[in-house]
Amino acid sequence: MQVLRTTLCAAAMAAAFTAHAAEVEVLHWWTSGGEAKAAAELKKMLEAKGHKWKDFAVAGGAGENAMTALKTRVVSGNPPTAAQIKGPAIQEWGEEGVLASIDDVAKKEGWDKLLPPVVANVMKYKGSYVAVPVNVHRVNWLWVNPELLKKAKAKVPTTLDEFFATAEALKKAGVQPVAYGGQPWQDATVFESVVLGVGGVDFYRKSLVQLDQNSLKSPTMVKALETFKRIKPYTDKNAPGREWNLATAMVINGKAAMQFMGDWAKGEFLAAGKVPGKDFLCVAVPGTATAFTFNIDSFAMFKLPNKDAEKGEKDFASAVMSPQFQEVFNLNKGSIPVRAGMNMAKFDACGQQSAKDFAAASQKSALVPSMAHGMAVHSATQGAIYDVVSQFWNDDRMSARQAADKLAAAAKVR
Ligand code: GAL
Repeated sequence: MQVLRTTLCAAAMAAAFTAHAAEVEVLHWWTSGGEAKAAAELKKMLEAKGHKWKDFAVAGGAGENAMTALKTRVVSGNPPTAAQIKGPAIQEWGEEGVLASIDDVAKKEGWDKLLPPVVANVMKYKGSYVAVPVNVHRVNWLWVNPELLKKAKAKVPTTLDEFFATAEALKKAGVQPVAYGGQPWQDATVFESVVLGVGGVDFYRKSLVQLDQNSLKSPTMVKALETFKRIKPYTDKNAPGREWNLATAMVINGKAAMQFMGDWAKGEFLAAGKVPGKDFLCVAVPGTATAFTFNIDSFAMFKLPNKDAEKGEKDFASAVMSPQFQEVFNLNKGSIPVRAGMNMAKFDACGQQSAKDFAAASQKSALVPSMAHGMAVHSATQGAIYDVVSQFWNDDRMSARQAADKLAAAAKVR
């Protein structure tokens, strides 16, 4: 964000903040069926507090397009009120000097007691809250159409070997085994789950969080890359460029049997009126049942020009942390509440499983941040890793050995 920093000084002088009093402009990328329903709940709650919601939705899974739009707006001195910014990127924006402290709300409401310290620390810049967390998504899920598995007399896989046996059985029965969206962030989403399945939690942490050179170049990483690539023959020829929710729709509509995707996919099943355990199954990515790859959505707050705007910002933050919002939003979004002590009674079996696995994984230190979803590494490093993973997926001449070496080089990018 070097460019941003230099441009900001000039822009700040000419800064004509256009946010109006109590008009809360929110940048997000929640445009698919389940996502939009969840976002609508946020709008409703804010409007109930007397503010005006100004939608700044930028379509595109995992928010790459949204982040580009955000940079443009901030550089021109016209940031939104709040933006969906996650993980280490909150620190990157904090360093630009554009984020606002919401410590007074956080103190009043006791956020330090309501959030696990690992989450609270990510929301703070230099000790002050600058962001509010929305949810906890689990990334290492496999979504299954049970009817298609039945048709192929195939078993719900719990190990990676079983996964390939099931995929083969489906193929023989004339069923499309895997619904896949060939976009860099989706490649990375599948890849990180396979790394977890092949190498286990410690290996995942060493390679994709700590970016340890030896782990990235190791035979285990080569095996993970080979395993990842073995999935490709079970995807269809229209996979390149496909949006994630269209891939989910293939599983929903019986066009494909399985999808590797985080639990925002559940939001799509639910929005289509499907029932978990009956119409679709949520199972951990084979080989990763005891681990939990987390992806926490959050909104960072920008410095705003007047008191009214600040009031809107604080009310927004307070609404997001409220038990009412944490329940209704997450029921629609497919994630679980991030606020402690929430009653999970209204959540379906997948949500309850996720909450249980989250607690168990944190006890066993098997809770790992998602690299693909901006939880683990600097955004520039993440981008460089995305490039290698997608290149390897798309280029059948690149060996897993070469890809592992390229990954190790990508890990040095900042
Ligand atoms: C993730 C985000 C989720 C979901 C998904 C697909 O990065 O955390 O909330 O929206 O992208 O867009």
